[in-house]
Amino acid sequence: MLRLLTAGESHGQALAGIIEGLPAGLDIDARYINRQLARRQQGYGRGARMKIEQDEVKIISGVRGGKTLGSPVTIIIENLNYPEWEEIMAPESIRTDRVVERPRPGHADLAGGMKYGHADLRNVLERASARETAVRVALGAVCRKFLEKFGIQIYSQVVSIGSVVAAPVPVEGENIERLMAQVDGSPVRCFEDEKTREMIQEIDRARAAGESLGGSFEVGALGIPPGLGSYAQWDRRLDSRLAAGLMSIPAIKAVEIGEGLAGAGTPGSGVHDEIFYDTDMGLERGTNRAGGIEGGVSNGETVWARAYMKPIPTLMRPLASVNISTWQAERAQVERSDVCAVPAAAVVGEAVMAWMMAEAFLEKFSGDNLEQVKLNYTGYMQYLRKVWKWIRTSS
Ligand SMILES: Cc1cc2nc3c(=O)[nH]c(=O)nc-3n(C[C@H](O)[C@H](O)[C@H](O)COP(=O)(O)O)c2cc1C
Repeated sequence: MLRLLTAGESHGQALAGIIEGLPAGLDIDARYINRQLARRQQGYGRGARMKIEQDEVKIISGVRGGKTLGSPVTIIIENLNYPEWEEIMAPESIRTDRVVERPRPGHADLAGGMKYGHADLRNVLERASARETAVRVALGAVCRKFLEKFGIQIYSQVVSIGSVVAAPVPVEGENIERLMAQVDGSPVRCFEDEKTREMIQEIDRARAAGESLGGSFEVGALGIPPGLGSYAQWDRRLDSRLAAGLMSIPAIKAVEIGEGLAGAGTPGSGVHDEIFYDTDMGLERGTNRAGGIEGGVSNGETVWARAYMKPIPTLMRPLASVNISTWQAERAQVERSDVCAVPAAAVVGEAVMAWMMAEAFLEKFSGDNLEQVKLNYTGYMQYLRKVWKWIRTSS
């Protein structure tokens, strides 16, 4: 079983993540993880902090000589601006003249304050902040590296920002590298140049109006073999696990697997992916509206989903709130904030996809070291080819 845990406050000393259950013998290094972190920090519409801090990981356990040991891998990302925040965030004595008392509608401030009994809402927002997703991307990078060993590739692309909607580009094995280079080159992670320009303008308008924006992104994994997840119990279903993972990204409020939303309003013949057989190609599906998952089990097609993000809760023209020390009506707290973080959320979505797929993959092909996992995987692929004429995914 693969387990991931994160810890750390937004302006605390550091973020920490532990990943446990990885096989021994996987090559991993900090540079590979840092490249993924840099992708999360990009994106038009981010706040000033992204320019100040260049995140870098320290691997402090579970890796020796560049290879995993089979023991828990611990990753640390230091918050470089901690010295400025030490008086406010130190575990020991702190300044009490800078408390946060005006909860922001849409953020965790009020609900978290009531739950944990915090009169200083900084105690809530420091952990609820999406800064936590940096270390999730780091752990996701380790999962991604593992999946790469089996030819699995992960992508994301922004589909909409505010009212600007792009047509997502179909991503396949032959074109993924070229398409993703183009998406990585767009400040809003959108494939279409014209829509990129419109999205940037939409963000500029929102910033000028003291507003914030949400949007949506698509995330997918190519090369997932048939048979991950199961219909045998609700919590084994791959679709429910992927949806839960994507929904756990702060501000994601809806997830669809494949063309889930459109499917609800379309007759069955226009939704379900027909099954064909060809002596050269083996079993084939003409379409992949199901998002590569049927009955909670991967069917060998690309696994893909879309996630929908609400607008950022911190507004430079703040909404109505109440001061929780005086109970007087006041405007909500203004913290340094992003105007739009959909492109960054898409990179976090890739990390979640990598985590969920690695977890399901290891469940099926488990092994204490990478060679054992490879043996299990290869044996299963041979069986699929021989018995089920599944000949597309190479082992
Ligand atoms: C990558 C990313 C960056 C975010 N940046 C901000 C931000 O700068 N300011 C803010 O108020 N919310 C930001 N959010 C959203 C909040 O973290 C989120 O709305 C909040 O934790 C409440 O959780 P909920 O929206 O899931 O209910 C960001 C989310 C993501 C995924």
